[in-house]
Amino acid sequence: MATKNESPWDVHVFVCTNDRGGERKSCADNNSQIVKSKLKEAVNEKGWKEKVRISTSGCMGLCAQGSNVMIYPQKIWFSEVLPNEVDEIISTIEHIMKTDL
Ligand code: FES
Repeated sequence: MATKNESPWDVHVFVCTNDRGGERKSCADNNSQIVKSKLKEAVNEKGWKEKVRISTSGCMGLCAQGSNVMIYPQKIWFSEVLPNEVDEIISTIEHIMKTDL
């Protein structure tokens, strides 16, 4: 039987890494796998590993605006994220950790 629990993460970040291989637009077209790797790296460097989780997501429905990154439970959504724009997401997570928790 399924068990219902509170999330163990203060901030949970989902990065769509769906790849349609060029058949149709997908987040992988904008190097979302690199976006995810850079986010993970930054979270580790900040020492947030026990509080912030970076997870891979499948398609989240806004494929033409990839890379898509969403932050829960704060309901923040970034679109058109490029690998060199990860700092803005990290700043947002930092703000959440300082003010919302
Ligand atoms: S492929 Fe990323 S939202 Fe659809």
